[in-house]
Amino acid sequence: MEGITDEPYRIAMLKSFPEWDQFFTDFLRVPTVGKVTEKMILEHYGERIYNSPDWRKKNSFQILTTPRAQTELVVDILESLKIDHLDLNLGCPSKKVNSHYGGAYLLSNHEALKKILDNIRSRFTGHFTVKMRVGYRDDKNFSESLKLIEDAGVEAVTLHARTRDQLYKGVADWKYIKEAVETINIPLIGNGDIWVADDIENIFNETKCHSVMLGRSALKTPWLAKIYKDYLFEGGYIDDTYLLYERKKYLEVYFESLLAEYREVEWHDNLILKRFKSFSRNLFDDYEDFESIRGLFLRSESLGEFLDHLYRLKG
Ligand SMILES: Cc1cc2nc3c(=O)[nH]c(=O)nc-3n(C[C@H](O)[C@H](O)[C@H](O)COP(=O)(O)O)c2cc1C
Repeated sequence: MEGITDEPYRIAMLKSFPEWDQFFTDFLRVPTVGKVTEKMILEHYGERIYNSPDWRKKNSFQILTTPRAQTELVVDILESLKIDHLDLNLGCPSKKVNSHYGGAYLLSNHEALKKILDNIRSRFTGHFTVKMRVGYRDDKNFSESLKLIEDAGVEAVTLHARTRDQLYKGVADWKYIKEAVETINIPLIGNGDIWVADDIENIFNETKCHSVMLGRSALKTPWLAKIYKDYLFEGGYIDDTYLLYERKKYLEVYFESLLAEYREVEWHDNLILKRFKSFSRNLFDDYEDFESIRGLFLRSESLGEFLDHLYRLKG
């Protein structure tokens, strides 16, 4: 996720919440001009992750490209580095990205999309997947997009069940995930508004998708993969008291592991505080007085004050 899943974040999650199966880098914008170097690619992926065979297996590299960008150069470097998994972003709704014919825009231009997919597939021998939305303006060419993607040799599709024009409005419509499962013969990963363990179970049952990808809920509950495993163990039930108990326990683990990783790369305390505040939006939602708790964290004037609130919250 852009602005979140950099290397320190992914390492902190790998260490603290090993129940997650897979992590993605945020998207690397393939440059149109200028040099593309191995150093740039490794920095985006994270060199410590690259040098750890176990972490590498769990980390996928996402790119966002346009018809004019230097896709070949980036893909050739990924191939030479033997990166296992490359994911192409066809979901980004940003006006700037779309005006350069990248992200979700490509779902409305199949000729350009096919060229990009063929280009990547002919150069990359590892696992190649795409992350898409239902369409750009509407769902008119949804099934054609899916078939084009499958025919290009893409090995799995993650579908955020909204169109680009819907941005984040309303609720993701999982009927499109079901439709995609029935349209193509490659694994379909369901995404969009999966917030709690029940949602994971429901989307599997309703759509028969292969697996799920979580965005905002992984920020709200970074230990959600563990909660889901507990939920399955308990036969499909988890009560609110348990959720709050786990939140109290893991909030500290979460921030402490992030702190250790940001310190490892020598981030300044002010930058760490800024990041911590940006992660705090929904982290306290299970508390009865979550708004006032969140306010305390967001108003912290120093990293020390933020951490004091954290330790006091645990009680
Ligand atoms: C802050 C933020 C950053 C995101 N960055 C990316 C990204 O880099 N690549 C990507 O494929 N999707 C990105 N997304 C979209 C999510 O992966 C996901 O498709 C979307 O949030 C819907 O799923 P959710 O309801 O689980 O959040 C981002 C979303 C948010 C909120």
